[in-house]
Amino acid sequence: MSTPWSRRFAHRTRTMKSSAIRDLLKLTQNPEVISLAGGLPANELFPVQQFKDACRQVLDTNCSAALQYGSTEGYLPLREMIARNLQRYGIEASADNVLITSGSQQALDLVAKLLINEGDCVLVEAPTYLGALQAFNVFGAEYVSIPIDHDGIRTELMPEAFQCGPTFMYLLPNFQNPGGVTMSLERRKEVVRFSNQHGIPIIEDDPYGQLRYSGDHVTPLFVLDRENMNGDDHYRFGNVIYLSTFSKLLAPGLRLGWIVAPPDVIAKLVQIKQGADLHTSTFTQLVAYEVAKDGFLDEHVKLIRQVYSERRDVMLDSLERFFPGEATWTRPDGGLFLWVTLPEGMNCHELFHEAIENKVAFVPGSSFFTDEGEGTRNLRLNFSSNTPERITEGIRRLSEAVKTQLQKTRLVSTTF
Ligand SMILES: Cc1ncc(COP(=O)(O)O)c(C=O)c1O
Repeated sequence: MSTPWSRRFAHRTRTMKSSAIRDLLKLTQNPEVISLAGGLPANELFPVQQFKDACRQVLDTNCSAALQYGSTEGYLPLREMIARNLQRYGIEASADNVLITSGSQQALDLVAKLLINEGDCVLVEAPTYLGALQAFNVFGAEYVSIPIDHDGIRTELMPEAFQCGPTFMYLLPNFQNPGGVTMSLERRKEVVRFSNQHGIPIIEDDPYGQLRYSGDHVTPLFVLDRENMNGDDHYRFGNVIYLSTFSKLLAPGLRLGWIVAPPDVIAKLVQIKQGADLHTSTFTQLVAYEVAKDGFLDEHVKLIRQVYSERRDVMLDSLERFFPGEATWTRPDGGLFLWVTLPEGMNCHELFHEAIENKVAFVPGSSFFTDEGEGTRNLRLNFSSNTPERITEGIRRLSEAVKTQLQKTRLVSTTF
């Protein structure tokens, strides 16, 4: 007897949908299409020679460790290096507070397994990172969302949102994906105050924090939370779990991220990770450590900042030059994205098809919301992965598509 496989899948798979971004990206495979869609780092900045040298060095000097099973927590020298680097941002952690994960996407999955019971309410920003929603959905999360503005999450709306008794808050304080905005210090303090007052944990997702091109560093929630603890043993009782990754600093193909958390949390996450993949690739961890150590990572991040900052400026200038006056956009101080808002009545899905005709792609804003019908006149644009020339041409093509759609929208509204 045979039954369609889809009827055999577990209940938890019912909420899984193929990511809209992935489906749309298929349409952008054509090399003639300038894709401003994916969150890709620039290919040409990958430190290829350093990786070649590091692979040889690791295999020549440490091949047993590199090719053997390793500890679930991760390669100790790498965890120590991450802990040292975090101290620059005021995050006082030791290797015991660090768990290496297979990208921060796995960190989101592990944290979801750790904290979400079916039907639990998770507080998210609107818009928020789509990959986090995919990770949380599997465990039956429900959502309460709070809009962001230029200073990040609108904390004045928190008391109402807290009525659902959220299991945790998932927040992106630096150069938010997709919004491109940074949470102000005031708002961060408010968030930590709420978290403390109600005992609600915060997942601080910070893949872009080191990619700042303008403005001043703002204290992480993790650090503010510690300051709030008034001398309590923060590493046992702190409210913040901090996530970051090498994806945007070295290469996403490494699949290397990390979680910083109190030891009790790390211990439970280690058990969960054992069931998922035993440990993150030892070979990759050793190679990444070899590349990053002795100051190379810092030098490399400086180069990335310089190149992406120029690309951000080119995109902002091109938007100014080509886009209709009714459109607005964020001016990110870092990260990879900016967020465009089109006039009332515009539909980003219709615009997407028009844009593909014009050989340019973006991600429709609606993908980043938990509520249907939101983000329909928003676009997420990536400025890291194309050369300045292609960015300018991409924005020019996109502006043509926007103008055509705008005319159609006006025609429809005057017909009625
Ligand atoms: C906010 C955010 N969190 C997590 C991730 C996942 O990153 P990783 O490549 O480390 O899995 C991304 C990737 O773009 C992201 O933007």
